[in-house]
Amino acid sequence: MDSFSVLVYWVLFGSLSIQLEWYGSLGCIEEERIGLLRLKAAFNPPNVTASAFSSWGAGDNMDCCKWENVRCDSTTKRVVQLSLKDTKYDTATKIVERWYLDFSLFLPFQELQNLSLAQNFLQGFHGVLRSSKLQYLDLHGNGLTEIPPLGAVQSLKSLNLEFNPLNNLSTFQELMKVRGLETLNMAYTRLRGISQSLWTITSLKAISLRGNHMKGSLSDKDLCKLRNLQELDLSHNAFEGILPLCLSNLTSLRVLELSWNLFTGSIPSNLFSNLQSLEYVSLSYNHFGGSVSFSSFGNNSRLQVFELDSHNKELNVDTESPHWNPLFQLKVFRLSNCILNKPDRKVPSFLWSQHDLRVVNLSDNGMRGEAPTWLIKNNSKLEFLSLRNNRLTGEFSLHPDSRNLDMFWLDASGNQIQGEVPYFLGSVLPNMLFLNLSRNALGGTIPASLGDLRKLKSLDLSNNNFSGEVPEHLFMGCVSLRFLKLSHNNLQGQLLPGKSNLTELWSLYLDNNHFFGELSHGLHNSRYLRWLDISNNNISGKFPDWISDFEYLSTLVLSRNSLEGTMPLGFCNVTRLRFLDLSLNNLTGVFPPCANLSSLTYLHLQGNEFMGPLPYISSMTSALVTMDVRDNKFSGEIPRWISSYLNLRVLLLKGNSLEGSIPQELCQLKNLSILDLSSNKFSGLIPSCLHRIPFGGKRPFDDTFYVQELGWTTYRSFRTYSFECEVQINQYVQADFYVSDVQEEIEFISKSRLESYKGNILYYISGIDLSMNRLTGPIPTELGKLSSIHTLNLSHNRLTGQIPTTFSNLHEIQSLDLSHNNLSGEIPIELISLNFLSVFSVAYNNLSGRIPDRKAQFATFEDSSYVGNPLLRGPPLEKGRTRTVELPSAQPTMDFEENDPFKESFWWSFTGSYIGAFIGVLFFLYFYFYSLPR
Ligand SMILES: *[C@@H]1O[C@H](CO)[C@@H](O)[C@H](O)[C@H]1NC(C)=O
Ligand SMILES: *[C@@H]1O[C@H](CO)[C@@H](O)[C@H](O)[C@H]1NC(C)=O
Ligand SMILES: *[C@@H]1O[C@H](CO)[C@@H](O)[C@H](O)[C@H]1NC(C)=O
Ligand SMILES: *[C@@H]1O[C@H](CO)[C@@H](O)[C@H](O)[C@H]1NC(C)=O
Ligand SMILES: *[C@@H]1O[C@H](CO)[C@@H](O)[C@H](O)[C@H]1NC(C)=O
Ligand SMILES: *[C@@H]1O[C@H](CO)[C@@H](O)[C@H](O)[C@H]1NC(C)=O
Repeated sequence: MDSFSVLVYWVLFGSLSIQLEWYGSLGCIEEERIGLLRLKAAFNPPNVTASAFSSWGAGDNMDCCKWENVRCDSTTKRVVQLSLKDTKYDTATKIVERWYLDFSLFLPFQELQNLSLAQNFLQGFHGVLRSSKLQYLDLHGNGLTEIPPLGAVQSLKSLNLEFNPLNNLSTFQELMKVRGLETLNMAYTRLRGISQSLWTITSLKAISLRGNHMKGSLSDKDLCKLRNLQELDLSHNAFEGILPLCLSNLTSLRVLELSWNLFTGSIPSNLFSNLQSLEYVSLSYNHFGGSVSFSSFGNNSRLQVFELDSHNKELNVDTESPHWNPLFQLKVFRLSNCILNKPDRKVPSFLWSQHDLRVVNLSDNGMRGEAPTWLIKNNSKLEFLSLRNNRLTGEFSLHPDSRNLDMFWLDASGNQIQGEVPYFLGSVLPNMLFLNLSRNALGGTIPASLGDLRKLKSLDLSNNNFSGEVPEHLFMGCVSLRFLKLSHNNLQGQLLPGKSNLTELWSLYLDNNHFFGELSHGLHNSRYLRWLDISNNNISGKFPDWISDFEYLSTLVLSRNSLEGTMPLGFCNVTRLRFLDLSLNNLTGVFPPCANLSSLTYLHLQGNEFMGPLPYISSMTSALVTMDVRDNKFSGEIPRWISSYLNLRVLLLKGNSLEGSIPQELCQLKNLSILDLSSNKFSGLIPSCLHRIPFGGKRPFDDTFYVQELGWTTYRSFRTYSFECEVQINQYVQADFYVSDVQEEIEFISKSRLESYKGNILYYISGIDLSMNRLTGPIPTELGKLSSIHTLNLSHNRLTGQIPTTFSNLHEIQSLDLSHNNLSGEIPIELISLNFLSVFSVAYNNLSGRIPDRKAQFATFEDSSYVGNPLLRGPPLEKGRTRTVELPSAQPTMDFEENDPFKESFWWSFTGSYIGAFIGVLFFLYFYFYSLPR
């Protein structure tokens, strides 16, 4: 380019750009433009890669009204809204910068009305905010520990402080200086109480204190000073006492959200009849009692959301009388865990008039009658329906022509619904994510149309009477499936599909059916598989060698099948395995010595033909808690490395061919609470060091799990459901996984009968069984130090010497069997102090002297406890005496602490299959059933 053309260029384009600049300054006030650039600088400290508002001032864009996150008034061109959110998080380095912002940076923006500084990790502010026109200030999601000085902003109408760690009551003082505040959001601010001054801000129309740690009762005079209140959210706190009666005076109230508190008493009947503006009511998860009749809110014509999921089944709800007709059309109706419509337990009939429902939860209400599947037909926008745990009957009927495109959650589990599932289910509800029809009386075959549900994540059809084969379409079509449970049906055919497309599958339960054949590798697409349970079928063939392809596999249950042959070496490659149950198969050979199964926690090999040395699991400190290898052909001695299983609680070696002496190393297993070495060939002395194991008196360890209630947040925005559902499903599915993970069953012979312990209750039981061996020498007196033990069985050995008097210290013992030995001397009378003893035998020894007086528990023992000791004298052995059969007076009981961390209900059952052959006396059969409410 020569110099002339440069000149022409400069004249033409230069003046144009001057014009543009002049025009641009029309667009935005220069002072504000500079102010914005200063703000930008404040948000981007020098040593951090500039990312916040990077487009501001870039290129020729001088009109700051057109910049991102900035909005100007269309006539004055002054900035009225600034949205400065979500900065300060460097996604690359994950560094969270905590910092202070200078309020004086906002001085240029004199017309600013809306300001958001949300989610910036702000620690606090310097200076004073002087934006005199400011109405909306959003500070949510920062690190503020107190409310910034706002006294100069008298125009402020709305303040959002959600998710800041305020934590300090004095912070309310700053609010008092703002007159005319209408909306205050202080949800999740870690506050422990309310300052009284809050109730004096009578201009308030909406307030949220959700999710704090607030306690105490709400007194009438405080809350009801807020006469203009339209929205009140006090949910997720610990407020207690009765609902303030004056609530019914807040006649402008539209939203009343009081869920997840500790409110008690009855729900005031005039609450609904007075509050004609109500749109949203949630009283869920409190401790209300008494009765409430729905007729009282029939006139609330604006009501859209009603929630009353109860915590405690103590609230009587009547939806039927007196007769009423609703003026509302609900969108959300949740009423669960109540005593509904006593005595006939009718399904609420007003629901027939509702046609706009999206969410309906009627679970755990004891409802009877036909299952209200008409709700699906009547409400074409229905998304969520739970009828779980009622006593509903009838068939699962749907209309083939209806379509519910929004429906994603259907739970009808735990009822008595019969008949077949409609074959067209998959086409009527094409967008399902969660379908649970378990625990009903459904029969017929599983409809192939379920395979059309490409979004389905969780399908549970367990505990029904389904028969026939599982349709192949299910394994090919439900490509999103994570959780599939078909347990406890009459399903047949080849167990695993020849091929499948369940690439997302995590959990597969096919146990307790009639599947047969060998295990094919049709699941090879499911590479994320974590839980596989196919126990109690007719599976034959070898242990699958492809199992090590599932690198995430953590639970594998193949028990009660007909698997045979040896374990493949590749088995040791399933390194994440936590729970393995191969019991009651026909597996044989040496159990492969593995070095990497360091996660294995529960090992059950009972009832196979394994031989050789005991299984070696890991070279690292082992996680093993349970080792059950009963009734195999293991031989040799107990290896010394047993002492490296420091977490072992349950060691069951019964019924093998183990020999040698009981090694001292066992005494290093300080967590052991059940030890069963019976029916082996152990010889030598009983190690006296056994008393160093506490045997019981221990709390369970890490298997605590809180099964999350399926709570739903429906607050105003109905459209957030889908997202929450994802979260909920994952939680639910995981909860389910986990529960089945710890539900291991342990059988242990105690009190002369086989007892089966399931779940965590197992950890409250302790005992030693060394019976049916070749042990010699005296009983170590130190065993009397096992003061927490429940069961001790040393019978059928060659023990000599006396019964230690120290046994009177076994305060918790319920069963003591020393029969069939060569013990001599007298029975120590001190044993009478054992208050929980309900089974006692010293039969077939060489004992002499008098039998202890028939006092306390000893009054209940009959001659069978003493026979076979020719020199023993006294009742009940004396002839001619009339026998009275008495039941044990002190039944063994289990005490649970109120605040036990285990929220799952667990149970303790005694299945009374007696092994009473050698005693030959008929005992009574006891069934104990304990269950701990959640
Ligand atoms: C930036 O510099 C400040 C002051 O020197 C320092 O405290 C901070 O850690 C630095 N931040 C990063 C991300 O390097
Ligand atoms: C400020 O925000 C409120 C609520 O989001 C909105 O209704 C209002 O229009 C906004 N005002 C301006 C000036 O943008
Ligand atoms: C509620 O209103 C009634 C009637 O207007 C009045 O008698 C009562 O005192 C009010 N209760 C409270 C707590 O304000
Ligand atoms: C399996 O699912 C994937 C992903 O949905 C799909 O692309 C593929 O075609 C499916 N394969 C078969 C055989 O259906
Ligand atoms: C086990 O894994 C190792 C390492 O990944 C591999 O070399 C070996 O072949 C695997 N063994 C079997 C039997 O699959
Ligand atoms: C186990 O194998 C043995 C010998 O092969 C056989 O006699 C027995 O019937 C098998 N048991 C089962 C339950 O399959």
